[in-house]
Amino acid sequence: MLISLRSIHKTYQMDSVHVPALRGVSLDVAAGEFVTIMGPSGSGKSTLLHILGCLDQPTAGEYYLDGELVSHLPPRKLAQLRNSKIGIVFQSFFMLPRLSALDNVALPLMYSPGRGNGERELALAALAKVHLADRAHHLPRQLSGGQQQRVSLARALVNQPELLLADEPTGNLDRQTGFQIMALLQELHVRQGLTILMVTHDPEMAAFAGRQLIIRDGMIMSDTKNHAPAG
Ligand SMILES: Nc1ncnc2c1ncn2[C@@H]1O[C@H](COP(=O)(O)OP(=O)(O)O)[C@@H](O)[C@H]1O
Ligand SMILES: [Mg+2]
Repeated sequence: MLISLRSIHKTYQMDSVHVPALRGVSLDVAAGEFVTIMGPSGSGKSTLLHILGCLDQPTAGEYYLDGELVSHLPPRKLAQLRNSKIGIVFQSFFMLPRLSALDNVALPLMYSPGRGNGERELALAALAKVHLADRAHHLPRQLSGGQQQRVSLARALVNQPELLLADEPTGNLDRQTGFQIMALLQELHVRQGLTILMVTHDPEMAAFAGRQLIIRDGMIMSDTKNHAPAG
């Protein structure tokens, strides 16, 4: 399994109040799966994605990534792991406005070992994967919302991660553009065997994936295979 979660709990502490966000999530995801996570607002979807992305740590439970127990690693190790194995995209595109698409995509390479070896080529290759090689020198404001999201997808892919995580990546886009992003994720999954976990509240977007989880009140309520993905 690429991902194994065992009884993950996450409780946020707000002053004297405990907010339970995840209440015993266990999950196995094999390499090469495309999984969506749906559920009502506040059900713990983003919390789960943050833990999967090593942006946050569980209060209890174990997270194995590629067989390695990562739930108890110190923050510096987690950051290394995230940089080498995981790409993440969010609802907001988080582009630096004064940098070209190419330079935005190259940003994560600044933190990689072996810096100074063909960043430009790697960034261009990542832009080509999202079919935007011809927009490399455009600034974010010269790109449409859908194109900006594709640039952030390229940035997430530039380190050639095994795992792509996406938190409502179509949430800021109109439907048609959302479908284009879904088709692109599906293509990356099918052609390159990329493992994808994506949060969405839209069943029509979730229909592009081969497996659908529903989470409610911090627990997985259903886990179903989709034998005929859309697209
Ligand atoms: N940083 C935080 N501090 C305190 N409570 C939080 C924090 N982040 C999320 N929560 C709470 O945890 C629960 C789950 O939130 P979240 O994972 O963001 O849900 P979703 O993404 O499904 O909308 C909610 O009750 C939310 O208010
Ligand atoms: Mg959320």
